[in-house]
Amino acid sequence: MKLIAVFGLWVTLLCRAHSNSLDSCQSRCGFGTDSDFSCQCNPSCERFKDCCSDYEELCKVGSTSCKGRCNEKYNSQNKCHCNSKCTQYNNCCSDYADVCNGGESGGGSVITDAELKSVSEALYALDSNRASASQLEIDPQVLISGSQTGSQEDLSSRRFFRFVDEGALFSRPTYEALLALLDNYNRMTGQTEDVSSQEKGEQDVFLREAMSNTELGRELFAFLYTKGVYTSEEEFIYDLKMMWFGLYSRNNGKLDSSGFEHIFAGEIKGGKVSGFHNWIQFYLLEKRGLLNYYSHSFDGPWTTFPDVLGMQFKWDGYFKQVGSAVIGCSPEFDFAIYSLCYIARPGKQCRLSLGGEELIIQTYTWNNSYYGDGKKYIGTAYPATPRT
Ligand SMILES: *[C@@H]1O[C@H](CO)[C@@H](O)[C@H](O)[C@H]1NC(C)=O
Repeated sequence: MKLIAVFGLWVTLLCRAHSNSLDSCQSRCGFGTDSDFSCQCNPSCERFKDCCSDYEELCKVGSTSCKGRCNEKYNSQNKCHCNSKCTQYNNCCSDYADVCNGGESGGGSVITDAELKSVSEALYALDSNRASASQLEIDPQVLISGSQTGSQEDLSSRRFFRFVDEGALFSRPTYEALLALLDNYNRMTGQTEDVSSQEKGEQDVFLREAMSNTELGRELFAFLYTKGVYTSEEEFIYDLKMMWFGLYSRNNGKLDSSGFEHIFAGEIKGGKVSGFHNWIQFYLLEKRGLLNYYSHSFDGPWTTFPDVLGMQFKWDGYFKQVGSAVIGCSPEFDFAIYSLCYIARPGKQCRLSLGGEELIIQTYTWNNSYYGDGKKYIGTAYPATPRT
C-alpha cells in the first residue's frame, strides 16, 4: 500500500516536471512542430488545434517578448513591437535588441542563428524520405587534402555509389518529381534554355510534392510564415518558383541558367563543371558511365545518411574540383535547406545543425538581373567543406 502511494507520488511528480517544460510556448514561438512536445507554438497549431495553452499569450498579441516575433508585421493590438521601426517609434519589447540580433538587418526578416539551428534540426528529423543504410551504400575510397583538389588524378578505381535501392527510393513522389526535372537542361552555359510547358508543369509538380505535400516542406513554410517572410503558402511557393527556376544569363547574354539547373543538375562554364551539388544527379550520371569519381577532400562527421562529402570528379570531359553535396537526403530536404539558407543568409555562410553536428551552407545571390520588385535569383548554394 505504502509502496503504491510512493510510486503514485513519483509518477505525479515526474509527469508534472515533464509537462512543465513540454506544454509551454516559452522560448518556442514560431519554432517547428516537434513531436517531443505535447503541444505546438507555430501558426500550423491554430489549424491543427494543438497549440499550447500559453500560445496566445506568449506568441500572439499579448506577448511582451520578441521571442519568435522578430520583424513580424506591425499589429496595433500588440503590446510592444519587434520590427526595425520599433526603435524609431520607441515601442520595442524590452528584449528586442537581445532576441532580434539588435535588429541589424533593417528591411528583411530577422532570423537568428539559434532559430536556424532549431529549424534545421526539425527539418532533419522530418526527413522521412531520406535513404536508410540498407537503401544506399557509398564507397568514398581515397581522401585527399584541400590543397590537392586541383591535381585531377583519378585515385579511386571503383564507383562512388556502390548501391542505391532505386525501387524503394525513386518511386516516391518527390524523387519522381526530381527525376522528371533533371533531364530538362542543357548543361552548356551560353546556350539558351528552352522551357516547354510540360517542363514548367514539372516545376510545379516538384514544388507541390516537395513543399506542400511533405511534413518537411510544411515545416519550412510554417517557420518562414511565423518569421513574417511570407504571408501565405501561395506567396511562398511562387517565390520559390521564381528564385529557383527563373532563368538568367551566365554567359553570352543567353537565358542559359537558373539556380535549380546550377545546383541540382550542374553546368559547364569556362571548360569546367560549375555548380552540381545533388547526389541523385551524381548517381544517375555515374550509372550511365558519364561521370568518373576521382577522390574526396571532405567527409562530414555524420555516420548515417544524410552525410556530406566534397568530391573530385570528371563529368564527360569536364573536371569538378570540389563538388560538395548532401548524400542520401531526400530531394525535399536538399531543396528546403538551400532555400532556408538563401532566404535567411543570402550571400553568406548559414550555420545549420543536423543531429547535433554543424553544417555550413554557403549561398550566393545572382546580382545581374531580378524578379519581382528587385528580388534576386539564387546564384548558388552548397555545403561548405572546411579544409581538413
Ligand atoms: C552581389 O551582391 C551582394 C550584396 O550586394 C554582394 O555582397 C556580393 O558580393 C555580390 N556578388 C557578386 C558576385 O558581385
